[in-house]
Amino acid sequence: MSQELRAVAWTGNSLTLIDQTLLPHRDETVDVRDVDTLVDAIQRLVVRGAPAIGAAGAYGVALAILQGEREGWTGAEVRAAVARVRAARPTAVNLMVCVDRVMTRFAEGLDAVLAEAAAVQREDVEANRAMGAFGADWLLGRVGEDRPLRILTHCNTGALATAGWGTALGVIRELHARGRLEVVYADETRPLLQGSRLTAWELVQEGIPHYVQADGAAAGTILRGAVDAAIVGADRIAANGDTANKVGTVGVALACADAGIPFLVAAPTTTVDLATPDGDAIHIELRGEDEVLEWAGLRTAPAESRGHNPAFDVTPGRLVTGLVTERGVLEVASGELPGDHLK
Ligand code: MRU
Repeated sequence: MSQELRAVAWTGNSLTLIDQTLLPHRDETVDVRDVDTLVDAIQRLVVRGAPAIGAAGAYGVALAILQGEREGWTGAEVRAAVARVRAARPTAVNLMVCVDRVMTRFAEGLDAVLAEAAAVQREDVEANRAMGAFGADWLLGRVGEDRPLRILTHCNTGALATAGWGTALGVIRELHARGRLEVVYADETRPLLQGSRLTAWELVQEGIPHYVQADGAAAGTILRGAVDAAIVGADRIAANGDTANKVGTVGVALACADAGIPFLVAAPTTTVDLATPDGDAIHIELRGEDEVLEWAGLRTAPAESRGHNPAFDVTPGRLVTGLVTERGVLEVASGELPGDHLK
């Protein structure tokens, strides 16, 4: 890709978001000028992916200040608006971490808030670049240098899901840049198709060979030896290494364990939540039933059926071969804990 895409961009006095609900068929942006529009954009997945909603939330503080100035809000009303942004989605801890970080500059005013939000964004790109290198080094060292690797991924973790470059997809991009990648198996990622719509779109932009496969194909692909490793992102990593990520991830991890191949999680340390002791304590977002009862706006399930639509699942730390952060790779399944990285 000649120019790195920006899912989240501050453009003077508003936030420009690539509308990820429309990709790959329509490449459009949404101009966000108020808090309600931002909350709606986060909840509808116009902007999505843990680091990207963290960056959007960071700029949400600036939006709340500007809206407060226009509408004559009190300080308490501005803070209440920020709290609504912070609570827009419950599972990805990056949203809370980034909003809280920017709020430490709230008393200094808009310029300080914007500078902090820009730092959040810049540091995320830097973290992703570092993860790309650490993850690629680890995979090449562990899986072997003798031939290019075949990698399976689930959901979208690229530039669209972050402030730029990507986490798990950043590692994949790095392998490709080093000429060490054969092919990517991209799970389609039901029900909202972040894999077939977004990951595949990014892989096309990068000229990376790939197959899109149904989520149900992943275990079979792994067990028949067609991939060397799986790598995914994360929405929240508990202190014991349990990892919440897009629904379907735990099945990939189980298949990798059975096949004896590495299952890697790539995420910045902003996704590690030491206040959450284990996966049971992670709030898993339950989304609307229609997302699983319908396809492309048409009802597919019988009218009498109910839908069960958890957006994420939890992979136990014992299945996480390696956690790639901007500080290196922790071998969680072998007993290294996320907190070891944060000391
Ligand atoms: O519901 P989404 O699309 O926001 O879920 C995204 C994921 O689960 C990603 O894998 C995770 O946020 C990491 S993105 C770098």
